[in-house]
Amino acid sequence: MISMKGLTRYFFVIILAAVLRKLGNIAACGVKTFVVIFFLIIIWIYVTMRNTVDDNSKMPQHLREVNGFPSESFESKIQQPYLLMDRFEKNIKHDKNITTGNPLDTGTEIDTKLLKMAQANNTKGFEKNEVEYIKLKIEEANKEQIIYNEDIFGRLNNDSLVILVQVHKRVNYLQHLIDSLAKARYIDQALIIFSHDIYEEEINDLIKAIKFCKVMQIFFPYSIQTHPDTFPGADVRDCPRNIGKQKALQIGCLNAEYPDKFSHYRESKFTQIKHHWWWKMNHVFNNLNATKKYSGFVLFLEEDHYVAEDFIHLLRLMGRQCETKPQCKFLGLGLDIMKPGPSNQAIMSLFHTNLGLAFNRETYLDSIKKCAKEFCEFDDYNWDWSLNYITNKCGKGPKLSMILRAQRVFHIGECGTHSRNANCDVGKVLAGVKNEIKSLGLYPTNIELTETKVGRPKMMENGGWGDKRDHELCLKMTRTIPNIVIS
Ligand SMILES: *[C@@H]1O[C@H](CO)[C@@H](O)[C@H](O)[C@H]1NC(C)=O
Ligand SMILES: *[C@@H]1O[C@H](CO)[C@@H](O)[C@H](O)[C@H]1NC(C)=O
Ligand SMILES: *[C@@H]1O[C@H](CO)[C@@H](O)[C@H](O)[C@H]1NC(C)=O
Ligand SMILES: *[C@@H]1O[C@H](CO)[C@@H](O)[C@H](O)[C@H]1NC(C)=O
Repeated sequence: MISMKGLTRYFFVIILAAVLRKLGNIAACGVKTFVVIFFLIIIWIYVTMRNTVDDNSKMPQHLREVNGFPSESFESKIQQPYLLMDRFEKNIKHDKNITTGNPLDTGTEIDTKLLKMAQANNTKGFEKNEVEYIKLKIEEANKEQIIYNEDIFGRLNNDSLVILVQVHKRVNYLQHLIDSLAKARYIDQALIIFSHDIYEEEINDLIKAIKFCKVMQIFFPYSIQTHPDTFPGADVRDCPRNIGKQKALQIGCLNAEYPDKFSHYRESKFTQIKHHWWWKMNHVFNNLNATKKYSGFVLFLEEDHYVAEDFIHLLRLMGRQCETKPQCKFLGLGLDIMKPGPSNQAIMSLFHTNLGLAFNRETYLDSIKKCAKEFCEFDDYNWDWSLNYITNKCGKGPKLSMILRAQRVFHIGECGTHSRNANCDVGKVLAGVKNEIKSLGLYPTNIELTETKVGRPKMMENGGWGDKRDHELCLKMTRTIPNIVIS
């Protein structure tokens, strides 16, 4: 497809070429230079304007986030006050089936708050309203703990599987993950819990449309979305990442005392990921009614993962074998830094993978929760490195992972490990992964352990986690609370 912009640029170049050729005939050197400079200035203005106005919207969504660009277009921001009212009305009609009368008379407490908010249609206060609205919706969902399709697939039991998926906002990847989960054998016995740090109807609809197993949504209550200008989001009074401690102390920014080991200050878009991972794990094991007594395995996935259809079969085989080995605490469905091996082989490793990591309540209680302080104070914003740190440095005895040599979980995120081409085409990456899955011998009947141990991970800290407030918030999340209170 050629866009309007592309055409404009094309004509521009043609005209420039034509003018230059004509000028070549005239051979008036001074005029030629003048015209060239004139065009260069025009091009410069054009490029500058384009960069400021347009380029953000061209950036792929995930890069926009990483670069701190707003995720929505300017137009959609302008329309938001109207959307809020729409959203409210839909919600009332949809949830409560109110057709007549004043909704205030019949709605719940939260509905009443929402209606008042939507009626106070003052555009300036709107962004605040939007945040309050989302906070209420999150609070409501976390309280209600609705499990979709439970009537069809029955209640969770200890032999089931809980799949806990961390979702940000890359909807197209999430769709691929869901498609792959739908094809998995035994998925009808699993409960998938999607844990969100963005409340967004488009994502919610995608999840509510799942019919192949029990599904639940939980919402991370300390997100940047619900804390746009205060901690755990970025406070305007926070120190800029690169300011340096001396300068920070001079200007007296909020967290001047707490840079990381590289003298950088926290960036909320990175700290959020570790907080979210830690929160959802604790929330599932401690607080959710459906899972707080569940003793089986919880598998951790992310929105840009893709699974092979026999992954539950393999988790079961590995789980049984792991139980017979006292040092075996974790399962891993793949390790993309390892040379792949036969589809029925696994290794025992001191290193724990972030690709299809699974563990049960016993491991949570003995090897993770007890080391919460170490996890929360380790100066590394990566949850997987923090986990590797505590399992090797905290508590007694080696804690091993049983990891498959032929991976069953793939990372298809743009520019992930499976894409070597510069533009990271999802379609191509996906085709590659599907081919790899096809070439595996799926559904092996047993697991063969090939090596006993693989190298101890390096215990270096990657930084990004020096702020005392992050340490404190992280520790707070391990508490067991009967009802989720959002602060
Ligand atoms: C709403 O309620 C009315 C009567 O109680 C019922 O006839 C109608 O089908 C309901 N609509 C929806 C969308 O549930
Ligand atoms: C909100 O706007 C609508 C339509 O513009 C108006 O009728 C209504 O009175 C306003 N509500 C408040 C609380 O200002
Ligand atoms: C969760 O369990 C508590 C205590 O048993 C109960 O009061 C509450 O209503 C339950 N919540 C849901 C959503 O089932
Ligand atoms: C699962 O096991 C735990 C502890 O062994 C027990 O308390 C719980 O009731 C079991 N849950 C189900 C659904 O069987």
